[in-house]
Amino acid sequence: MRLKRCFLLLLNIFLVIFFLSCDRNKSKNKINIGFSQAMSNDDWRRSMNNSMKLQASMNPEINLIFRDANYDVLTQIKHINELIADSVDVLILSPIKSKPITAAVYKAFKAGIPVLLVDRKVEGQQYTAYIGADNIEIGRNAAKEIISSNINDSIRIIEIKGLAGSSPAKERSIGLKQIVDQHNTAKIVASIEGNWEKESIQSKFIQLLKSDIKVDYVFAHNDRMAIGAWEVARDLGIENEINFIGVDGLNGTNGGIQAVKNGVLKATIFYPTGGDEAIKLALKILNKESFANNNILSTTVINKLNADIMTAQFEKINDQQVKLEEQIDAVKKQEELYYSQNNLLKITITLLLIVLSLAIYSIYSIIAIRKRNRQLVINNNKITVQRNQIEKIAEEVKISNEAKMNFFTGLSHEFKTPITLILSSIESITDFNKEKSSKIMNEVELIYNNSNRLLRLINQLLDFRKIEDRKFNIKASQTNLLSFSKIIYKDFEREAKKRNIDFSLISNNELLDIFIDRNLMDKVYFNLLSNAFKFTPDNGKIEITLEDDSLSNNIEIRFKDSGIGIPSEEMNEVFQAFFKGSNNRKKSSGIGLHLSKEFVEMHKGTIQAKSHQGTEFIITLFKGKAHFDETEIIAEQDLIDTNILDFTSENLTDENYFIQAPGKNNEKHSLLIIEDNKDLSQFLKNKLQLEYDIHLSDGTDAIEMAYEIVPDIILCDINLPDKDGFEICEILKQDLRTSHIPTIILTAFGDKESYLKGLESGADLYLTKPFSYSILVQSIKSLLYNRANLRYYYTSNIHKIEEINSFGNIEQKFIHKLNSLVNNNVGNSEYSVENLAKDLLISRVQLYRKIKAIMGISISDYISNIRLEKAKLMLETDSLTIAEIAYSNGFSSPNYFSTAFKNKYGMSPAAFRKSF
Ligand code: FRU
Repeated sequence: MRLKRCFLLLLNIFLVIFFLSCDRNKSKNKINIGFSQAMSNDDWRRSMNNSMKLQASMNPEINLIFRDANYDVLTQIKHINELIADSVDVLILSPIKSKPITAAVYKAFKAGIPVLLVDRKVEGQQYTAYIGADNIEIGRNAAKEIISSNINDSIRIIEIKGLAGSSPAKERSIGLKQIVDQHNTAKIVASIEGNWEKESIQSKFIQLLKSDIKVDYVFAHNDRMAIGAWEVARDLGIENEINFIGVDGLNGTNGGIQAVKNGVLKATIFYPTGGDEAIKLALKILNKESFANNNILSTTVINKLNADIMTAQFEKINDQQVKLEEQIDAVKKQEELYYSQNNLLKITITLLLIVLSLAIYSIYSIIAIRKRNRQLVINNNKITVQRNQIEKIAEEVKISNEAKMNFFTGLSHEFKTPITLILSSIESITDFNKEKSSKIMNEVELIYNNSNRLLRLINQLLDFRKIEDRKFNIKASQTNLLSFSKIIYKDFEREAKKRNIDFSLISNNELLDIFIDRNLMDKVYFNLLSNAFKFTPDNGKIEITLEDDSLSNNIEIRFKDSGIGIPSEEMNEVFQAFFKGSNNRKKSSGIGLHLSKEFVEMHKGTIQAKSHQGTEFIITLFKGKAHFDETEIIAEQDLIDTNILDFTSENLTDENYFIQAPGKNNEKHSLLIIEDNKDLSQFLKNKLQLEYDIHLSDGTDAIEMAYEIVPDIILCDINLPDKDGFEICEILKQDLRTSHIPTIILTAFGDKESYLKGLESGADLYLTKPFSYSILVQSIKSLLYNRANLRYYYTSNIHKIEEINSFGNIEQKFIHKLNSLVNNNVGNSEYSVENLAKDLLISRVQLYRKIKAIMGISISDYISNIRLEKAKLMLETDSLTIAEIAYSNGFSSPNYFSTAFKNKYGMSPAAFRKSF
């Protein structure tokens, strides 16, 4: 960063140097010379301006500030003041008039600005220097020239004066007079006042001439007025009678010299402008060189004798001047070239320096970056090593945690089987001892209650794990909330009675149905009520209120107790896992409320706690099912009180669940129990053997036994030593010999994956441990009952059995094959059951059992049924005789056909045909 700042500074310095060096118009060493010109409308003035500018341009340091007053005195004063304000180094001035300009000149002089007067003067001596010709001398020279002509004894002169108040006009007049006064032969007969321009004198001169004045010479103070006078004389036709003398002696077509050459003027007195000399003098003053205050430029008379020479000289001067100007131009161009090249060079050098700096900076940066990179690589490596170590440790921790959790989960699952056994045993004991001893009953109740509590705790732990692993899937079904609540209410009724707790369940809508996962919501109720009972003292009050808010889509379930309450500062934490209230001295796992909240939220509901004279938990749930996914909705039968393990309930006996299957005979159904837990299998055998023909397998020989026995129903555990329950179930369901057998899977795994796996393996029912023995019995009976129902249906509809699509795939294929074999051989009375079994690739016994199991009749009855159905159809539609129909359907004699037909349909074939 510091380096970058240094670099930028350097760059700025370069740029400043560059721009400063590029400024060639440095004002620092410039000399500002202000020039206030009286006017510029005549050639003499223009010549003065040119020579001044030319001289200035030869000195590049001079900055000439030019102002033209255009004959206006006030303007000139204004210009002078401006130049004073600009603090010019020298003020050159050609005043229009003397007096009015004097004060301004004095001001400049006083301000310390050297004031140089050119051509005309101001009054007094308050200026630095004067430069110009001696105008008195010019007047004298004019007079001398007139007198020297000696045209007659008395020479009559008319003087045409310049602007009154300007010093040349005054001085030229003095000079003329001085000489004329010395000679008697000459006399100034009249004078006219002009303003230096011919127009100012012409009308006056006409009048003078017309007044019959005799004149030999006209001396005008400048050539312009002299030529103007000549024009007047010419117009009067007397130009040759008068000699005209002017002043200035300018070269050029309109100049005095040409006028002399043309014979218009007799002579002109050369009056130098002093423009270039003024600049030179200004430099002298500024350079502090010695200079004269009065710098008189030489003058001379130009007449016919020297006019050509003068022209030649002036032209020479002019040529030189042109050359000089060309040279100056060339120098200027050179100078510009020099400056542009110089600037280019400076730009190049500056750029080079910048490039150089950049290169140095880049090299430095590369080195620095490399160095930093090396450091980064080192750091990176260190971090990678550390990260790997952390990952390794994390992995180890994860594995260790996983192992612990698996151990813990496995152990919890393991607990379930013994608890199931304990509970079921208690149930048995209760059945036997119901009437006998209330003391034993109390003990048993104690064991029962505690076993149940243990079971609930284990379930809570497992639920907690499942919640953590996000393995819970909600299965909501339409449920009457009051009936649902009543069932759980009953569980606590006894305790309430015992402790004289005013325990009530109130609902404002008995018909309210909502969608809930009964299993999960049961846990929520149980938790909240257990808590309420735990913290409510004897003789207290616990209230469950179900409120259907008819104005909204919500319902509320409130659990209110008169217990110790929860400190208000802990209200926000009650639903956190492992929370234990500071005033809670009871034992508690701290996950019950956490689980309740999770379960309620899985219903898209909310739960909140309030504490004011006791505690109130308010659950808010949505009505309807729009808030659930379709996959979360299941159909469940209406609520029945399934709390079979509640041995205190007098309503629940096996009889209530006994379902009489149609056509049940005394023959016992066979039941194969595949379970490696000897206690459990023995327990189940003991309980079930009265009604069923029980076969036990520890799982190692399950498949072989199933093939051999072809039982009516199979009960199968999942955790088995050889193949697991899913595999066994799948194999049996895919084998023609056993595919029809209803299978119940018993397991400790209640998660969705296991449930699905069970269904995929073809199991008909999936019961999780601890299962209720009564539910198991009911399930077995239901499955057998359904089978019996199906069988009954099939036997009554054998002719359309293939259309009935309620068999499994294997059964369907089997029936199809069986039917086509029977149909193909329907007229063949020789085709035996052995032939049929052989064609179906199974043994005769297996064929017999299979048909018996799925149809409830023997194979020969089945074949006979098909024949009779076909014959019946033919009786309805064909015109064949009854004997022909009997033979064509494989009956060995028409008599046998008639008997069989009568047995099945209650009338003889002939009667049937007639009735039809
Ligand atoms: C030019 C001029 C000259 C004359 C001089 C006097 O403006 O009129 O003709 O000699 O001024 O200042």
